[in-house]
Amino acid sequence: MFRTNTCGELRLSDVGKEVTIAGWVQRARKMGGMTFVDIRDRYGLTQVVFNNEVDAELCDKANKLGREFVVQITGKVSERSSKNANLPTGDIEIIASDLKVLNRSEVPPFTIEDDTDGGDDLRMKYRYLDLRRNCVRSNLELRHRMAFEIRRYLDSKGFLEVETPVLIKSTPEGARDFVVPSRMNPGQFYALPQSPQTFKQLLMVSGFDRYFQIVKCFRDEDLRADRQPEFTQIDCEMSFVEQEDVLNMFEGLVKHIFKYVKDIDFTEPFPRMTWADAMKYYGSDKPDTRFGMRFVELKDLTGGKGFSVMDDAEYVGAICAPGCAGYTRKQLDQLTDFVKRPQVGAKGMMWVKIEENGEIKSSVSKFYTDDELKAWADRCDAKPGDLILILAGPTMKTRKQLNELRLEMGNRLGLRDPQKFSCLWVVDFPLFEWDDETQRYYAMHHPFTAPNPEDIDKLETATGDVRATAYDMVVNGNELGGGSIRIHEAGLQNKMFRLLGLSEEDAQYKFGFLMNAFKYGAPPHGGLAFGFDRFVSILAGLDSIRDVIAFPKNNSGRDMMIDAPSAIDQEQLDELQIALNLTDEK
Ligand code: AMO
Repeated sequence: MFRTNTCGELRLSDVGKEVTIAGWVQRARKMGGMTFVDIRDRYGLTQVVFNNEVDAELCDKANKLGREFVVQITGKVSERSSKNANLPTGDIEIIASDLKVLNRSEVPPFTIEDDTDGGDDLRMKYRYLDLRRNCVRSNLELRHRMAFEIRRYLDSKGFLEVETPVLIKSTPEGARDFVVPSRMNPGQFYALPQSPQTFKQLLMVSGFDRYFQIVKCFRDEDLRADRQPEFTQIDCEMSFVEQEDVLNMFEGLVKHIFKYVKDIDFTEPFPRMTWADAMKYYGSDKPDTRFGMRFVELKDLTGGKGFSVMDDAEYVGAICAPGCAGYTRKQLDQLTDFVKRPQVGAKGMMWVKIEENGEIKSSVSKFYTDDELKAWADRCDAKPGDLILILAGPTMKTRKQLNELRLEMGNRLGLRDPQKFSCLWVVDFPLFEWDDETQRYYAMHHPFTAPNPEDIDKLETATGDVRATAYDMVVNGNELGGGSIRIHEAGLQNKMFRLLGLSEEDAQYKFGFLMNAFKYGAPPHGGLAFGFDRFVSILAGLDSIRDVIAFPKNNSGRDMMIDAPSAIDQEQLDELQIALNLTDEK
């Protein structure tokens, strides 16, 4: 046997036992005649002691150990004289009687510690070493635990896990496809799935009734902290359901995960908010509801005073920051700079302070009387000591800017605690989104989403007002997942394609297989998909999904470790009958 115990399991109750452990050298310290070596494996860290007076040759061998050497150590478990309360094995140590070096290691390019000296790029290049660090490994342990609990919950509800193909025809989810050339079909390409959307719908036509899959999806889009080009979805679909059934089933899944993975019980139903209210009160379809500061509209109180910023504005919105009346000029200037950054895009910011003594101060006091400003404060329900921040401009644009400002104030006031979780369903999304540039409607979710039955008669007359039976699960301001009830009837699906500007020919070419399937008895169905990486990162309290993925890509979509993407041989290109026409030699 290679080892009798792992590096994480020995305790006081094992004192006196002869044991063998194996692992990596975390660090070695020489103190007088003694050498202390910490040995690490996936399970923990154990201190091993070599005594020069007992066995000088063995101690000498230990003194030559370098960081990350792989060793096997035999010895007796003994109680430590100076215990380490921070370590589960901190009450004991092993008095070594044998040491085998199983493999040597070069000096690693960064220290394998939670608080490492390695920068992002270096750690990405040597990801296999980064993964030895506790904090990274524990994220993957959390990921495993969650995947296990997801399967346990869905299995208990009768869902079948079915794999769907990876080499497919494009599925539209709003991003560019990654494509793969086909050698056997020269000039033709597979697309990697942006999601298994059409396949799960076909499985419903096949009568599978309840499907799920923890599945890789691929999207060629601009990357951010919460986006990777390949990511994992918990993809689900159900037959003979209405929106309410889907929401209940998957609210149950989210609650199950929180309970069994984080020991957090959500006893109340998750709140629901319409998309229209989310935009009105938070300027976002994924509001962070860990804190208040909802938008208050002031347009009717601000016009007609000869102040063009207000007079010309379609919309005037405010947030009330509690206890911030003491903000200095410098702090207010910083906030103004914040909203003027190109990423936010506001022209400026106005403010009203309600001082502790009730006195009102404002950046726009030359246009408004104290009574008028007081009326704004009353509408915002502002108390002495509060600060009101105001933006004015076109409605949707200004709401989005105010959303950024609200989140910034939430950060400044410490209201976005990563260990506090606020879950929310956003419902009643619009079915379509108008794009000014291309002068046409796009599906806000995807083209298979069913319109709200109450709005079907508006499809052609008031297209932009039609609501979808689509829903998103939002946690702490992140879109954790989304889905919809699907169209299951060929006629309505064709109409939808037409409204999206797809000719009958195009629709047939792209989605003929689905339209054909719908001719053979498609049941009413619906579902959703959660972003699994996002789910793990939220539970881990992390901002980026990168650290919950074993081998992630960087922001330029590169895997720094294997150096991909990379050029391929001319021979491979010839076989595929592909000639490159590079305009950008980068
Ligand atoms: P959607 O496109 O909303 O829906 O995706 C579902 C969830 O997947 C996650 N997600 C991502 N995570 C990491 N990196 C990305 N690039 C990325 N893109 C999306 C998000 C998102 O909420 N087929 C539909 C679902 C359905 O209708 O059933 C779909 O894919 O958390």
